[in-house]
Amino acid sequence: MLEQMDPTDEQIERAVAVLRAGNLVAFPTETVYGLGADASNVSAIRKVFAAKQRPVNHPLIVHLADTEALKHWASVVPREAWLLAETFWPGPLTMVLPRAAHVPRELTGGQNTIALRVPSHPVARRLLMAFEGALAAPSANRFGRLSPTSAVHVREELGDAVDFILDGGDCPVGIESTIVAFRNSQAVVLRPGAVTADQIGEALQSEVVAPTASSPRVSGTLPSHYAPRTPLKVVSADNLEEVLRRESAQGPVAVLARRGRPEHTRTTLWQVAPDDAAGYAHHLYSLLRRIDGAGCHLIIAEAVPDSPEWTAIRDRLMRGSVEDLEVAAVATGT
Ligand code: TXA
Ligand code: MG
Repeated sequence: MLEQMDPTDEQIERAVAVLRAGNLVAFPTETVYGLGADASNVSAIRKVFAAKQRPVNHPLIVHLADTEALKHWASVVPREAWLLAETFWPGPLTMVLPRAAHVPRELTGGQNTIALRVPSHPVARRLLMAFEGALAAPSANRFGRLSPTSAVHVREELGDAVDFILDGGDCPVGIESTIVAFRNSQAVVLRPGAVTADQIGEALQSEVVAPTASSPRVSGTLPSHYAPRTPLKVVSADNLEEVLRRESAQGPVAVLARRGRPEHTRTTLWQVAPDDAAGYAHHLYSLLRRIDGAGCHLIIAEAVPDSPEWTAIRDRLMRGSVEDLEVAAVATGT
């Protein structure tokens, strides 16, 4: 199902012209589509916040063509950051580092740090190379909504608020990058992703620590993030059929599970997701979008395994779920 699209050189050139004029280009990365703007142009950065309807204190990720560019955007690059860059870049890892003095405040939401990553998607790389600069790019969705993993999703989310979309087919990873910060010389995972804490620990030969209340804030870790419009509830495989029976009495229910629908159960929509973590992540947001359009009053997601390769998926399901949304409304006033 992985659709491969290859924009022409003319399309890349057009995208570069749009960016140089201070306008917005959505482009594919290996994780999700980004809404890109020239990271050195404050008025372009403001357009990103406006298009996404994103609060201005939520910092953006800056995408770089190569590891060398780290030195331009970060004032300090610890040994651990070079090691992780060497091991995982280009790829789905973002590093939070002290920002260089010239970095626009608009980019970092007023924080002293900056989030940086070198993406591996061939279209993102072609664009960055042709642009010869850095691209500030959050996920190309409205604030608080599911990240887009196809060009069609980007158009659905942003409509005319995006000036140009480079279509690179479906994003291979399918969920947002792992975000890492450093406390002293220890890595802290602020947002789990395809690069796991274990892999980071192995690369650094040191333990990876959990975030604390004083860790930098990450809007992707607000409980209300990544939510489909339909309320979502995560239920263990053992309880699924009972919860489904109970909830179906209230109206149509959709199920997202890694197995087929048992014969005796009835439901409006039973969506089967892949049984392996990489396949599940690849399809997760497009499946949730499809389910979201089915007019159900509830999505029941079967809980996923407890092992490390499922951590990022567990995280996204929990953040999309109804119990968390109630907590989020209280905690953030949104
Ligand atoms: O995979 C990804 O990371 C995608 C693709 C497009 O690269 N981008 C993405 O961007 O998910 P966004 O803006 O949707 O999420 C970036 C997260 C936000 O939660 C933001 O708060 C956090 O990165 N972030 C950015 N700068 C930060 C900083 N200086 N300190 C802590 N967190 C930061
Ligand atoms: Mg996002």
